[in-house]
Amino acid sequence: MCGIVGYIGWRDAAPVIVEGLKNLEYRGYDSYGVATGTDHLMVVKRKGRISEQTECVAKCLGTRGIGHTRWATHGPPNDINAHPHSDCTGRFTIVHNGIIENYAELKRGLESRGHHFASDTDSEVIAHMIEEAWEGDFPAAVRAVLPILEGSYAILALCADSDEVIAARKRSPLVIGIGDNEFFASSDATPIVAYTRDILVLEDGDLAVMRRGSIAMEHGGVPIIRKTTYVDYDIEAAKKGGFAHFMLKEIFEQPDVFQQSFRLAQKHPEISSLLSHAHGVSIIACGTSYNAAMLFRYFAEKECGIPVRVDMASEYRYLSTPSDEVVIAVSQSGETADTLSALRKASSCNCPTIAITNVQGSSITRAAEQVIYMGAGPEMSVAATKSYMAQFAAFAGLLSGMNCNNGTSSVERSARQAIEEALLTDVSEAVALCVKASTLFYVGRGIFYPVAMEGALKMKEISYIHAEGYAAGEIKHGPFALLTEDTPVIAVCLPGDSYQSMLSNLREMKARFTPLIGIGYEDDVDLQDVADVLIPVPKGDTYAQVAAVTVLMQRIAYYTALALGRDIDKPRNLAKSVTVE
Ligand code: F6R
Repeated sequence: MCGIVGYIGWRDAAPVIVEGLKNLEYRGYDSYGVATGTDHLMVVKRKGRISEQTECVAKCLGTRGIGHTRWATHGPPNDINAHPHSDCTGRFTIVHNGIIENYAELKRGLESRGHHFASDTDSEVIAHMIEEAWEGDFPAAVRAVLPILEGSYAILALCADSDEVIAARKRSPLVIGIGDNEFFASSDATPIVAYTRDILVLEDGDLAVMRRGSIAMEHGGVPIIRKTTYVDYDIEAAKKGGFAHFMLKEIFEQPDVFQQSFRLAQKHPEISSLLSHAHGVSIIACGTSYNAAMLFRYFAEKECGIPVRVDMASEYRYLSTPSDEVVIAVSQSGETADTLSALRKASSCNCPTIAITNVQGSSITRAAEQVIYMGAGPEMSVAATKSYMAQFAAFAGLLSGMNCNNGTSSVERSARQAIEEALLTDVSEAVALCVKASTLFYVGRGIFYPVAMEGALKMKEISYIHAEGYAAGEIKHGPFALLTEDTPVIAVCLPGDSYQSMLSNLREMKARFTPLIGIGYEDDVDLQDVADVLIPVPKGDTYAQVAAVTVLMQRIAYYTALALGRDIDKPRNLAKSVTVE
């Protein structure tokens, strides 16, 4: 969480930083700030969104600077807690992404030695520590502070007396763009690609000193050279392109995304083969990526008979890690802290590791032995839609290589067609019921259980309506107490081995006067009979059904949030990349 940007070169730094931070706003958007340097440092910081800032950073002059867009961890969002943070003298200022776990102890020590703190943040200790360590050499002062910091950080620092920008990284992402006599630092490459595609990815323990026309890298105090990589990035894909919201645009991109991601995964027959011969497969992921992993579990167990364990990455550290399991980490951003640490645990237990991610050069790609890129293109909306579809498609592509499903071309074609139809299906009656609700249940059985979980997650995060995804068979074991005539249930009821049980569950709910939104076949008379609203799913194989139901649920959530006037692309309290545990 939190986005940071730095610049040193020949342009005015503030506009570069402000534009960069706008691109990073998906990482956090409760406050922002910019500092630039000439012979003294100018700092401007405010509660609110960088995208809504007017001219307040205009007074930040100079051709070197740093900036931050915040997702609060320590202290509420306000002007004071916004970054950059400075020391007592105003000579040093820093921006930080991550968490300094020992900050309380460090702060007590600094205060006892006469330092005055302005903010409630953990980050401010860094500026005061640099002040204490300074003996006239800025890089040496930063170098001395880093080993004392416990936790995670990506730091950019400025000193009024040195024409340098210093960057340091430990377990929080940080990249540097190498331009023509200019350097850009950022939490990811998006703010940089408009200027240069040559990107250098910092490793944990790296420190970079950027000066005019030169950069010096070191690792643990020892000078090193890191190679740059050329980043492929579609700048147009990161614009709204006429849609009201990124989320809607990304939902509409899904026919192509499914196809692209399916094909990319098929280019890894060695991974399909590894999975086919594995004693067991374990998947670690968070949120939407977890829900996508659950899809693989149902398909792989049913079609290939392979036992698949799916764990929330945040819980993985408390569980056993058998070394004969192949471990797959799934993460759109490739930077989710819990997924990364779970992946590192799996590596340390000698498990073969695979990453499925959407972001080139992200931390996860360097922590795993093998990588599958999802090819979804930049996903700007905080709520994941096309990346979930891409993860599903990647799993489908891997399964096709395992020769257990019903053939490559049919899955690709049928899913694409189903998505296209689901994009045009009328969901307005369902939306009308959801808008009035304060609690919703999403239910399904078998493969449609994770689909229901994902539907509920989408609804709650963008509409703020409490929504729970449940296995339909479980709902009698407690949640039934919550069902009333004001608690709509969205139920997936499609022909297959769960169909009859599903219908019985729906009838039981109907007997409690629950408004039922059935997602199933249009000509299903039994479903018509029990459901208050029927949202039709195009006929097709199970992959096509999963894809179509996913799209329908995304659209129900989107239009409900729209009707409620929510901030769809930037829901309250959330951030796209969760880089703290
Ligand atoms: C929900 C959503 C989150 C992410 C989760 C993991 O729409 O986006 O639940 O799926 O934070 O993120 P990644 O996939 O980047 O690891």
